[in-house]
Amino acid sequence: MEKNSKKILFVCLGNICRSPLAEGIMLHYIQKHKLPIEVDSAAIAPYHIGEHPDPRTIKNALKHNIDIRNLIARQFHPEDFFNFDKIYVMDSYHYEHLRNIAPDNEIFYQKVDYLLNVLYPNQNREVPDPYYGDEKDFEEVFQIVHNACLKLLEKYLVSCG
Ligand code: 4NP
Repeated sequence: MEKNSKKILFVCLGNICRSPLAEGIMLHYIQKHKLPIEVDSAAIAPYHIGEHPDPRTIKNALKHNIDIRNLIARQFHPEDFFNFDKIYVMDSYHYEHLRNIAPDNEIFYQKVDYLLNVLYPNQNREVPDPYYGDEKDFEEVFQIVHNACLKLLEKYLVSCG
């Protein structure tokens, strides 16, 4: 992460499971530690625009004291390439979609990355989609995203010196 990065966007397909969870986990720590980082999340697909996160994601996050009930899904729009310092996607579908709509390659490669590359550099590992899964899958996604967010916060704090 670059030294001055402070606006982070998380992107997934529907913006109701994975990316709002990442946003909510980050917000929890940002507020707790008063960190100068802004976060947001957005969808590739329009299916759930205007909706709160999936009730299963909300319920599982609440078990861990993370409250994402107030978040509302929105669609990714091309200005987001300019409005954020870093854009983290959950899987290759989101990555390829953003590559297709990016204004140019330079801005895409500078800003867009897989969230799990924070933990496993250059491996392009994916955060699994829990939408058609069960409670266990939502908990697994929580653990994966939480670990990635903790690493992201650590990277940010180190880069701030
Ligand atoms: P998300 O999960 O991309 O993590 O928000 C999904 C949400 C909705 C759908 C698929 C995945 N859907 O097919 O509606």
